[in-house]
Amino acid sequence: MRKFITLAAIASAIIAAAYFTACNNNKSEPQADNKEDSIKRVIARGEYLANHVAPCLDCHSKRDYTKFSGPVVPGTEGMGGEVFDQKLMGIPGTVYARNITPDPETGIGTWTDDEVLRAITQGISKNGDTLFPIMPYVNFNHMAKEDLMSIIAYIRTLKSIKNKVPTRQLMIPISMAYPGPALQKSIDANMRPPESDPVKYGEYLMNAAVCTDCHTPQVKGQFDFSRAFGGGLAFDVGTFKVNSANITPDSATGIGTWTEERVMNKFTVCREEKGYNYDPGKQNTIMPIVSYAGMTDNDLKAMYAYLRTVKPVKNKVEKYPQ
Ligand code: HEC
Ligand code: HEC
Repeated sequence: MRKFITLAAIASAIIAAAYFTACNNNKSEPQADNKEDSIKRVIARGEYLANHVAPCLDCHSKRDYTKFSGPVVPGTEGMGGEVFDQKLMGIPGTVYARNITPDPETGIGTWTDDEVLRAITQGISKNGDTLFPIMPYVNFNHMAKEDLMSIIAYIRTLKSIKNKVPTRQLMIPISMAYPGPALQKSIDANMRPPESDPVKYGEYLMNAAVCTDCHTPQVKGQFDFSRAFGGGLAFDVGTFKVNSANITPDSATGIGTWTEERVMNKFTVCREEKGYNYDPGKQNTIMPIVSYAGMTDNDLKAMYAYLRTVKPVKNKVEKYPQ
């Protein structure tokens, strides 16, 4: 864990802390903590979200696929460079995760909070360039502003790494890929549903965790939401191939017969090192299980509660194609 907190991180955290207080002011617990405590609380919330819920650091760090589910290589957090291309997931070109460490030249050290917020919720980079939507800004566009500001405060605390990421190459104009209409202009009214409503709260978490993107079938590059979570997307990592599972409640082809315990266990096995520190050969997965394993039991249960309510989709998936 990195405890080096820069001035920029403190500045971001103070802004985020203001959101926290504004959003939580009708709670009954006293908000007695001082500024330093609220900064720590905001950064801890951002650390939780960016590492275990919204998988920022899976995409923006190096992943080690010689281990189960490709855990993040320690020391590479935020440096960028991971490749997303046609072979891996059918992208029309090659897109690289960018450097989101505070390095001023190759990272986002000189960006303001508003510039980072615009990139992660509207897909517009500091210099005005449009980001390819493999960066899940469509999802993050629906997150509560306090959660987003906490993530920004936290990524300011990452260790600076100098790493110039190659320029992306697309075979189509970026305007063709930009999901403009799917983005709401203002995120100010976004709310995180209360945990007392696990179905709604679980839906919120699954959106932030980008589960939809890997588990919803596509037709000609567009998500087919009428079959949401039906699975069958193909990933070719090179050393192994895997298709995403059907996670709808269909009993025959989805996870309709899975108990809450079984679904939780899919993730919680990777809370301990022995759960992932082995070479799984071709039975590997691109799902960042080690990261999701850090979600609280409560948050995992909420996702299960939401998954029970989605429409069952009949779609038999062979996870490991021959
Ligand atoms: C599925 C992988 C993925 C996830 C998850 C993801 N990103 Fe990204 N991100 C990318 C890629 C790829 C790009 C570059 C897109 C391009 O070049 O068009 C990018 C670009 C960015 C940029 C723009 C940087 C620049 O120099 O223009 C920022 C900032 C960013 N991501 C922050 C985040 C944060 C914060 C999160 C978590 C809330 C996150 N990303 C989650 C893949 C991802
Ligand atoms: C990067 C892509 C990716 C993301 C993101 C992702 N998954 Fe998966 N998921 C897969 C793949 C591929 C499989 C099949 C291989 C395996 O079992 O890991 C899978 C399998 C599963 C399974 C096991 C089902 C079975 O039949 O074995 C569950 C449950 C699941 N995912 C739930 C989730 C949830 C909940 C989220 C979000 C928190 C999520 N997934 C995010 C790609 C992804």
